[in-house]
Amino acid sequence: LHGESVVILGNREPYVHERGADGAVRVLHPASGLVTALEPVMRACSGTWIAHGSGSADRDTVDACDRVRVPPGEESYAIRRVWLSKEEERGYYYGFSNEGLWALCHIAHARPEFRASDWQQYVTVNERFAKAVCDEVKGPDPVILVQDYHFALVPRMIRERLPRATIITFWHIPWPNAERLGICPWRREVLDGLLGSSVVGFHTQQHCNNFVEAVDRYLETRIDRERQSVVQGGRECLVRNYPISIEWPNRWAAAAPPAAECRHAVLAELGLDADALLGVGVDRLDYTKGIEERLLAVERALERFPHLRGRFTFAQLAAPSRTLIPRYAALNDAVEALAARINRRFASGTYRPIVLLRAHHEPPAIFRYLRAADVCYVSSLHDGMNLVAKEFVAARDDERGVLVLSQFTGAARELTEALVVNPYDLEEASAALATALQMPAAEQAERMRAMRAMVSELNVYRWAGRMLADAGRLRQRGRLSD
Ligand code: G6P
Repeated sequence: LHGESVVILGNREPYVHERGADGAVRVLHPASGLVTALEPVMRACSGTWIAHGSGSADRDTVDACDRVRVPPGEESYAIRRVWLSKEEERGYYYGFSNEGLWALCHIAHARPEFRASDWQQYVTVNERFAKAVCDEVKGPDPVILVQDYHFALVPRMIRERLPRATIITFWHIPWPNAERLGICPWRREVLDGLLGSSVVGFHTQQHCNNFVEAVDRYLETRIDRERQSVVQGGRECLVRNYPISIEWPNRWAAAAPPAAECRHAVLAELGLDADALLGVGVDRLDYTKGIEERLLAVERALERFPHLRGRFTFAQLAAPSRTLIPRYAALNDAVEALAARINRRFASGTYRPIVLLRAHHEPPAIFRYLRAADVCYVSSLHDGMNLVAKEFVAARDDERGVLVLSQFTGAARELTEALVVNPYDLEEASAALATALQMPAAEQAERMRAMRAMVSELNVYRWAGRMLADAGRLRQRGRLSD
């Protein structure tokens, strides 16, 4: 793949241009695990990221070909923006992608909503992005990286136009078992669309197995279980697991002030005493993240361990997300009410147990909080990987701080030195919070060192490298058999 530029297709753009109330344009880094992982890869290999242009000043910052070079000031690759109508955005993004597939793929008790009108928009928008990809690539056998559940149909659409393309598709969220997938009226189209890829990647072997089982159940194809691949019309699609990660060394961690300084600043910001015990959570406001369960675990900890009352404060950074979807609006209200109830119960003087910071935070602010924390609690009810857990580890070059991590994240398979808990089990989770808050410094350091060694080695460049190497081998084989 040497010397070739990569085309990535990912719905969420890595830099969003927003016009503020003062008329000035600001560049924001959106809250998205996909962006966290892929952006450093693009900086390293250049090329083009095709995405939905979503910022209020996005149109004002592109050239005549809808392109803008990024990162600002250190331009090394391009974003090509695709504009969607309100209707397309509603049907494709809010509807089929997020009320349908997102709910279907996560075991988090939200009923998947599948509407024919959303599906129509999903097909139309996938066509539009497939066309944008084909306009963008050079030569008959380009390398194309398709990202996530917004684009299940795109690999097949590209394959029809460019039979020799190398298409690597990565599904960033869990893949459900075959029975659950059966809820989706368009399961066959979704599976067949993905099988246009050369390689389909998931975070875990379990999700690969679920995918292959679903193909077996719903499509007429030949499955090669030994090679873990699906063969259709003489063309093979590999199914592989590639656990995603973050950049290492991490640029945000490197740019952050020393941990002691961060702690001082954050405690002052929150109006807390210097001996406060600080918990931190960082998420989009999404029902899969277990934010309610997290606050309930804090409440339970305060009930069970009276020495924490008046001292332990949990700061939840919550980025508003997908706010037009009723389930997300309801979650917002529920989290707010829960935080208020717990605060009423345990507040005294200036002490509040929960600080809910409901706003978009830029990475420097997030890293300041992660570096300040005594404990970071990631309580997802279901999560493909969860990169906040890995960012916390990257943030702690001081080898302090304890990670409490849901067993239902992909990250729990790698970060085994975290305190791994079932977020539904408030007894277990609250005990883990208390254990974390009194863990001796030497044990914190030992656990953090092991986790840092793991993430630094299995970083996102390794993730991308493995996928590209598999694709490179397939390409080689294709060329030899030409
Ligand atoms: C998850 C998805 C990403 C998505 C991110 C943020 O991580 O896998 O594809 O970008 O959530 O969600 P949003 O809808 O704001 O892009």
